[in-house]
Amino acid sequence: MKALILVGGYGTRLRPLTLSYPKPLVEFCNKPMILHQIEALVEVGVKHVILAVSYQKDMFDILIEKQLKEVEDKLNIKISLSIENEPMGTAGPIALARDLLLQDTTDDDTFFVLNSDIICDFPFKKMIEFHKTHGKEGTIVVTKVTEPAKYGVVVFDSMGKIESFIEKPKVYVSNKINAGMYIFKMSIIDKIPLRPTSIEKDTFPLIVQEENLYALELKGYWMDVGQPEDFLVGIDLYLNSLKNKNNLAVPNFNNDIKIIGNVLIDSTAKIGDHCQIGPNVTIGSNVTIKNGVCLKNCAILSDTTIECHTWIDKCIIGWNCFVGKWVRMENTCVLGQDVSVKDELYINGAKVLPHKSLTSSITEPKIIM
Ligand code: GTP
Ligand code: GTP
Repeated sequence: MKALILVGGYGTRLRPLTLSYPKPLVEFCNKPMILHQIEALVEVGVKHVILAVSYQKDMFDILIEKQLKEVEDKLNIKISLSIENEPMGTAGPIALARDLLLQDTTDDDTFFVLNSDIICDFPFKKMIEFHKTHGKEGTIVVTKVTEPAKYGVVVFDSMGKIESFIEKPKVYVSNKINAGMYIFKMSIIDKIPLRPTSIEKDTFPLIVQEENLYALELKGYWMDVGQPEDFLVGIDLYLNSLKNKNNLAVPNFNNDIKIIGNVLIDSTAKIGDHCQIGPNVTIGSNVTIKNGVCLKNCAILSDTTIECHTWIDKCIIGWNCFVGKWVRMENTCVLGQDVSVKDELYINGAKVLPHKSLTSSITEPKIIM
C-alpha cells in the first residue's frame, strides 16, 4: 500500500522554525514530524511513501539525499518526492502524483493521504479495516474537539456515512472535525483536477454528494502541532501516551539532576548538576544544559546550549541557539535557528528570527526581526 503525505504547506504559524526547515522536518519530540507518521505507516504494511512537496523543495532534495535515504534503508521502503511548481493545495497533489500512485498497482488498490503535522496514536490499521467494511471510495478520520465553532465540523450518521461538512458552525451540529488522515480508492484520482484544489472545500463535497465518504472516529489524543502553543500541548499528550504504553524511558544520570514528570532526553545531550527538568520537556541531540538550569514545558532542539541557572517555561528553542546565564524565558517564546540570548535577560513571548542576537530584555510578546 502507498501513502501520500502533504508536506508542501508554508508552515507560517510555526515561524520562525519553518524559516529554516520545512514544517514536516521540524523535530517534534526529537523526531522529524513526518517520521512519526512514516514509522506508523510502515507498521501497517506501507511500502512506498510519496511526499507532496511545494514550499522549500530544494530542502527536501538535500534531505532525501541524506536523512530520508537512511530512513528508506532502515525501514526498507521507498520514498519519492512529487514536486509542485506552484502550491497545489491539499487535493491537487493527489492528481499531480497520479503516476506514482498508480505505479505497480491494481485498480482496486487504496492509498493513504495524510497531513504532515498531526500527532496521535495513528489508527492506520483500523482505517484499513473500516474502509474495507464500508467498501466506498473514501474514509476520513474525525476527532472530537471541545470548541467545534473554531473548526469545520463533520456531520455523519450512525454507520459513519458523511452527510455534510459545516465550516465554523454557529449552532451546535457536531463536535467532530477532520483529523487530517484519509484512505481513498485510486478512482478518486480521476475526480481531482490538475490544479490547486482543496480537499476539504472541493473534493469532499463532491464525494459526499455521491454518498461515498465515511468517517472513522479517533479514540485517544490528537493534536495539530502546526503552531507553537499546540506544539507544546502536543508534547504533553505525546509523552503521556508513550508513558502509558511503557515506552518512555526514565533518564538515568550519574549527577544530581531532578526530573519531574515526563521528559524525553536524547542520549547525546549533556545535563549539568542541580538542574530541574520537566514536566513535558524534550531535549534534542548534542544539546548542552549547564548547571542549575530549570526547564518546564519546552522543546530544546538539537545543538543548542543553555548556560547556568537559566529558567525556561513554555518555549521552543530552535537549533544551534545559545542562551546565556540567569536568563528567564516564558510565555511561548520561539527562538529560530542560531539565535543567541545574552546573560540575565527576561524574554516574554518573543518570536525571534534565525541568526538574531538578543542583547536586551523583551518584556512584551513580539516578533524580533
Ligand atoms: P500554515 O501556513 O501555518 O497554515 O501551515 P500549512 O501551510 O502547513 O497549512 P495547513 O496546516 O493548513 O496544511 C495542512 C497540510 O497540507 C500540511 O501537511 C501542509 O504541509 C499541507 N499543504 C498545504 N498546502 C499545500 C500545498 O499547496 N501543497 C502540498 N503538497 N501540501 C500542502
Ligand atoms: P518546468 O521545468 O519548471 O517548466 O516544469 P514542467 O511543468 O515543464 O515539468 P515538470 O517535470 O516540473 O512537471 C511535469 C508535469 O507535471 C508538467 O507537465 C505539469 O503539467 C505538471 N505539473 C508539475 N507541477 C505542477 C503544478 O504545480 N501545477 C500543475 N498544474 N501542474 C504541474
